[in-house]
Amino acid sequence: MKAPLQWGVFFCLKIALDINMENYKNKILVTGGAGYIGSHTCIALHEAGYEVVIYDNLSNSSFEAVNRVSSLIGQPIDFIEGDIRDADSLRQVFAAHQFFGVIHFAGLKAVGESVAKPLMYYDNNVSGTITLLKIMAEYEVKKLVFSSSATVYGDPEILPINEDSPRSCTNPYGQSKLTIEHVLEDLALSDNSWSLIPLRYFNPVGAHPSGQIGEDPNDIPNNLMPYISQVAVGKLDQLSIFGDDYATVDGTGVRDFIHVTDLAQGHVAALNYLKQQKQSLGFLPINLGSGKGTSVLELVRAFSAVAAQDIPFQFVGRRAGDIASCYASADKAQELLGWKASLSITDMCQDTWRWQSINPNGYNSI
Ligand code: NAD
Ligand code: UFG
Repeated sequence: MKAPLQWGVFFCLKIALDINMENYKNKILVTGGAGYIGSHTCIALHEAGYEVVIYDNLSNSSFEAVNRVSSLIGQPIDFIEGDIRDADSLRQVFAAHQFFGVIHFAGLKAVGESVAKPLMYYDNNVSGTITLLKIMAEYEVKKLVFSSSATVYGDPEILPINEDSPRSCTNPYGQSKLTIEHVLEDLALSDNSWSLIPLRYFNPVGAHPSGQIGEDPNDIPNNLMPYISQVAVGKLDQLSIFGDDYATVDGTGVRDFIHVTDLAQGHVAALNYLKQQKQSLGFLPINLGSGKGTSVLELVRAFSAVAAQDIPFQFVGRRAGDIASCYASADKAQELLGWKASLSITDMCQDTWRWQSINPNGYNSI
């Protein structure tokens, strides 16, 4: 081959390789992607140029959510129905796609249910994650963003809570998250080629601004925001506020509510950060919260104003296991990921209300 021709072939090959590398860098496996936070994150990932493959057993979600994500992004989304405890099924997925990394939402999340069925929670959440990690190792995919929770901080001694705060849990759900964090820490210590980012979410609320996707609890909601919105839409009679004697601004519990679309952007920021790194990160926990505390009564009043109606409520005793106040220091997310929550409590209430009004029975409304 003549020299100019050789150079031509070389450059063509290099461009093809670069395009291939870019594609590979963009493909993400999203376990639990049909769920509440996962569905919003899939949209944010698509908008940021990532290619998404959802893997979900639909144990706590509806295929309708996947349909709606596809409509919102204007193209079909790749969906595989499967369980993270099923190693063979995961192997098939990893053999068929070359992933840059995994965002791992799949898990059970109801605190009360976890107390009644601890084995189910440890099996699903902990064993499932271990199976996923083993298959990732087999296929040399060693970048993971994991859905952890502020619950790993237990009852915090110091507020706002930063990532170095002591960790402890009081229920099997929380223990499953903390155990997974310990597994990830040990894995990172054993092999420095892993990058493992547990994102510790504070209180995710809100819905996509289109009103097409949102939180769709199976039974009577355990969490505050879906309870309020179901009272507002007339499905439930009144809210019970658990405790009015906490040492807080008005005696009710204080939490760090974060809009689910802000949370979704936090995942995009974590992936972008992973992409920029020349070296592996090991175990790198990061809080995703707004950094602001809002009381239960403040949230009820904000929702009332948005929905232009009273939310009937009564004060009842404290709920076992609840803490008075919990809000994040979100400095690490801003410093490392350049991410900061941008949406207000009013935005959270407006988007929840839009979703609930259009879909009074969630994804079963049609
Ligand atoms: P979700 O229940 O809506 O979504 C979880 C998804 O995982 C569901 O679609 C479910 O079908 C799927 N799933 C569960 N077990 C699975 C398995 N074995 N194999 C495959 N798929 C499985 O919950 P969410 O609110 O979107 O939460 C996502 C993650 O974030 C969970 O891990 C949860 O523990 C964590 N988290 C949630 C909150 C919150 O308040 N929503 C707070 C902190 C952390
Ligand atoms: N609350 C009520 N009435 C209700 C529901 C809740 O007064 O019907 C109060 C609670 O007592 C608490 C506040 O509203 O003071 C928030 O309660 P949520 O159940 O909405 O949220 P939690 O802070 O208890 O827990 C949530 C998730 C956990 C997660 C944690 C931190 O449920 O899984 O946030 O991310 F671990």
